[in-house]
Amino acid sequence: MSHRRKLAAGNWKMNGLWADLAEVTKLMERHPDPGCEILICPPATLLSRMSDLTVDGAVVTGGQDCHAKLSGAHTGDISAPMLADAGAEHVILGHSERRADHGETDEDVRAKALTALDAGLKVVICVGETLVEREAQNTLEIIGGQLAGSIPDSVTGENMVVAYEPVWAIGTGKIPTLGQIGEVHDFIRARLEKRFGAGVGRSARILYGGSVKPGNAAEIFAVPNVDGALVGGASLKADDFSPIITALENSR
Ligand code: PGA
Repeated sequence: MSHRRKLAAGNWKMNGLWADLAEVTKLMERHPDPGCEILICPPATLLSRMSDLTVDGAVVTGGQDCHAKLSGAHTGDISAPMLADAGAEHVILGHSERRADHGETDEDVRAKALTALDAGLKVVICVGETLVEREAQNTLEIIGGQLAGSIPDSVTGENMVVAYEPVWAIGTGKIPTLGQIGEVHDFIRARLEKRFGAGVGRSARILYGGSVKPGNAAEIFAVPNVDGALVGGASLKADDFSPIITALENSR
């Protein structure tokens, strides 16, 4: 139905040692010519090695966050040019764990996105409501505010991906109903088209994230305007991530 290339993105979070790169080798062996894009965002310590490992394979790599400044006295932080230099093509920004653990605001995410785009990275901008916000029926208002505040004006359909990740579904094994996922994805698509026009709005990919597993991936990927997934726990092992990738390849 759409011309958007599907994207299976793995977010390793604060997991992964050198030995775990064997999972990436296994994944590339299983998907030598995948029918979708495969992105893995390892911890920064593994980025260079993973990028070297995947240079001839179908997997691309990304960072999990970057600083809004290009360089300077920011101990422990990582800049967008450093990620690009380490082989990253993408960076996840505004993940709910960054928003919760580090107090990142929409303005912070937007500033980081501008720097990342300048460095030639593609940005995966995360939005999502908490359970309290969903129960108060504020989901669309919250998502609308996050989209407006976090996405810079200068994005294109190629260099920006939105990930819808309900906070209450991350790492919990709970997922929204397919109807709820569809409602939010349609809403995000409409907002993107309204703000950026049909060209950008229709070509940007919208991922679902939050407890995506081999057992629920196919039904999630059948929801209109779901162009792939941002996968946490189930991206760590090839045995879990591979069937999710296959489900995406086989989706409409
Ligand atoms: P999960 O995490 O798949 O472990 O729920 C998703 C995410 O936070 O990106």
